[in-house]
Amino acid sequence: MKDSYDFLVIGSGIAGLTYALKVSEYGSVCVVTKGSEDESNTKYAQGGVAAVWDFSEDSYHKHVADTLDAGDGLCKRRVVELVVKEGPERVREVIAWGARFDRNASGEYDLGREGGHSVPRVLHHKDQTGYEIERTLLHQIAQRRNIDLLTHHFAIDLLTQHHLGATVTRRTKNITCYGAYVLNTRTQRIHTLRARITLVATGGAGQVYRNTTNPLIATGDGIAMVYRAKGRVENMEFYQFHPTALYQPGQNPAFLISEAVRGFGAVLRTRDGKEFMHRYDRRKSLAPRDIVARAIDNEMKRRGDDYVFLDCRHLNVHQFKKHFPTIYKKCKDAGINIAHDMIPVVPAAHYLCGGIKTDIYGQTSIRNLYACGECASTGLHGANRLASNSLLEALVFAHRAFRHSVQRFPDVPLQEGIPDWNAEGTLNAEELVLITFTRQEVQNIMSNYVGIVRSNLRLKRALERLELIYRETEALYQRTVVTVELCELRNLINVAYLIIRSSMLRKESRGLNYNLDYPFKKKVARPTIL
Ligand code: FAD
Ligand code: SIN
Repeated sequence: MKDSYDFLVIGSGIAGLTYALKVSEYGSVCVVTKGSEDESNTKYAQGGVAAVWDFSEDSYHKHVADTLDAGDGLCKRRVVELVVKEGPERVREVIAWGARFDRNASGEYDLGREGGHSVPRVLHHKDQTGYEIERTLLHQIAQRRNIDLLTHHFAIDLLTQHHLGATVTRRTKNITCYGAYVLNTRTQRIHTLRARITLVATGGAGQVYRNTTNPLIATGDGIAMVYRAKGRVENMEFYQFHPTALYQPGQNPAFLISEAVRGFGAVLRTRDGKEFMHRYDRRKSLAPRDIVARAIDNEMKRRGDDYVFLDCRHLNVHQFKKHFPTIYKKCKDAGINIAHDMIPVVPAAHYLCGGIKTDIYGQTSIRNLYACGECASTGLHGANRLASNSLLEALVFAHRAFRHSVQRFPDVPLQEGIPDWNAEGTLNAEELVLITFTRQEVQNIMSNYVGIVRSNLRLKRALERLELIYRETEALYQRTVVTVELCELRNLINVAYLIIRSSMLRKESRGLNYNLDYPFKKKVARPTIL
């Protein structure tokens, strides 16, 4: 294994792989990923990629307007416009690499509809769009000689001047990234991986909540790493809950019932079979996600129910099976025959709209460090992401970061003199158990106090409880050898802290940040930068 590359990419989801493919035409690339090569949020994406495709029905203007509307006044219009306009070209590129999207009887792409979209515009591969994209990208990566894809390699921390002995604070100018410390989880060796350019593409942080659609790897590592390196992070209060995860208590991750199912005609009902969404929004079950999730949460609390139902009984079962084979099978395995039974669903933590603050080229506030995908906050999503805009954003920003960084990297030297990781410390079995318990405690705090409905009192409680956990975990970190479990726990605590603090700083209800102490009304929109 080499110890230096032109480009270091942390993460092998859609963002990291797309970027790696592109920069590999120009220099050596190392992709590190903490699990198997395809384990990522990307792999589980169901609904699809939103892009303006059919200009007879759709337009850039409409997609921009829908995105801005969902974002509740906090999207950056320039970013929305560039993503919407550049998106179709990027999707065509993935198709050229081999991704297969479904077509209708006349051979045109079969465009799905999801919440908040005024027209059908979602390209998809059945209910396995993410899997298809991930498969395509990995196939391309395997053919590139100058990409080393290192699975089971966990990035612990970014290298900056701090590791050369300098004092780095949030006020330090020109903080510079030189690569990362990476733990090979098979050998337990920690490598100092130097790079001219580093891309953080570590995805989301759903595991900060008890009930989430995100796989176990989604622990917000990249955001925590950047924050520890004193980089800028913003809009962390906007955690999106997907309205319809299958109700199966204790399942981690929770299985998603795609919004495309509602786009296909499924209807939300309370347990007594009554529709309720018309009381919350004229778009009913296809309103933007923040509205639908809040409505479900309200109905559940009002009625003392643990779930609501998604009713597919009136839909054509044959067509349903064709469009949503994974969902059909999952329901069947759970004893739900969608032709006769309604599907019990609950909201689940799904997507982090904020994250590492970047500019329109994916540059972070740290030099030579880029971020894209779910870990980044580009300004596209504002206070609430429009469905299926995430895969699109990752494609567009991976390309923009590529264009920008290949121009810069020849002038960036590889940093010398970075010390190896100090691997001293011990770990006993009791401490491992404590880590598991503490992870659950963090999830409980976040789910109980910092969920869909918040209040100043709940946020204060959450912060007080988290502070105790933070102190205990830092003490453990100081005396033990580094493990993935401990690093993930630290990162989750860090992300939880950022969500709570950002939510406290936002003295209004907006988009996904609903605080009972501040009724909803339009105010001047400002990002929350930490
Ligand atoms: P990911 O795909 O999550 O990849 C992150 C990578 O980073 C992983 O390889 C991970 O192992 C690696 N990693 C993380 N930390 C470390 C570390 N410390 N060291 C090394 N590697 C690390 N969006 C849409 O637009 N349309 C959809 O239909 C859709 N459906 C979804 C369905 C589900 C169930 C889920 C969970 C999400 C869905 N989303 C959808 C959201 C979308 O899938 C994600 O936002 C997007 O795939 C994120 O891509 P990414 O490349 O940023 O991150
Ligand atoms: C879904 O299929 O409902 C998920 C779409 C998304 O998260 O954008």
